[in-house]
Amino acid sequence: MVKALHTEICDILGIRYPIFQGAMAWVSDEFLVSAVSEAGGLGIIASGNAPGDWVEQRIIETEKRTKKPFGVNVMLLSPFVEDVIEAILRHDSVKVVTTGAGNPGKYMEKFKSRGIKVIPVVASVALAKRMERIGADAMIAEGNESGGHVGQLNSMPLVPQIVDAVSVPIIAAGGIADGRGIVAAMALGAKGVQMGTRFIASTECNISDEYKQKIISANDRSTVVTGNATGHPVRVAKNRLAREFMKLEAEGATKEQLEEFGRGKLQLAAKEGDVQNGSVMMGQCAGMINEIKPVKAIISDIIKQAEEKVKELCNQAL
Ligand SMILES: Cc1cc2nc3c(=O)[nH]c(=O)nc-3n(C[C@H](O)[C@H](O)[C@H](O)COP(=O)(O)O)c2cc1C
Repeated sequence: MVKALHTEICDILGIRYPIFQGAMAWVSDEFLVSAVSEAGGLGIIASGNAPGDWVEQRIIETEKRTKKPFGVNVMLLSPFVEDVIEAILRHDSVKVVTTGAGNPGKYMEKFKSRGIKVIPVVASVALAKRMERIGADAMIAEGNESGGHVGQLNSMPLVPQIVDAVSVPIIAAGGIADGRGIVAAMALGAKGVQMGTRFIASTECNISDEYKQKIISANDRSTVVTGNATGHPVRVAKNRLAREFMKLEAEGATKEQLEEFGRGKLQLAAKEGDVQNGSVMMGQCAGMINEIKPVKAIISDIIKQAEEKVKELCNQAL
């Protein structure tokens, strides 16, 4: 492998390639997670709002499928957060915890005492600085191009500002779906990348084929951010649900009404295949994804393309 693609994050986590599969609620279960870890990346189980015993079952099923490092994402606003953390601590196989929607400060000691690396997802410099102060081992800087819940800034300005503000390794997320994206992220100072949308369109991803096809058929303008009025903006495919949601927002629906309207909709698309009335979370990079492939091919193609791109840039510089 080209040296530039082997970064300290590979050594810290014991992974071959600096590629994380972002946690995705209703999407990243033992099938996708183990496939990514087996292929040399870092698979991450999504816990979302699921109960602790459900998450523990996903950990047990992943342990059966891979001996390589994998992670669990803890959604700190989940009503089951304490149970999820206890489940994680019962399993030495979990080497990494990524966190979202809050401050993992009060759980830091527990994770560290078990040798678990804590990698929060951040979308601003202020939050990155706070996470460094509480002892985060690395951070995922996630830009607004991402699928799912998003912050305000795009990756291009976000990643270098966070890289400059903190001294831990930064993983870039949002808008990355090929080798060019990895090289660009590294040029911005990232030590690795996290991809979500690219991994949905994989053979191993355990969701409806309709959802995957929605990604394959997307173009550059197929997504939209809804939910600004709720304070929890989400990037989704522009479909019937998104249009109805935006109409309700424009008509001044309350936060509670909007939350009620959105409840269960990701599951509807991911598990039942209703991609018109369900929430098809996907990033702007969906327009670059034209094929459903096995995870191993996704990762090896990306690494090959990144290596070629690095060599091309080096040759141009001479
Ligand atoms: C369907 C879907 C569900 C997601 N769920 C979560 C989640 O539960 N926790 C989390 O931290 N990030 C979640 N994300 C964000 C991803 O982990 C990842 O950071 C993001 O997809 C990267 O951007 P990309 O889609 O452009 O690759 C989700 C993304 C998608 C597309």
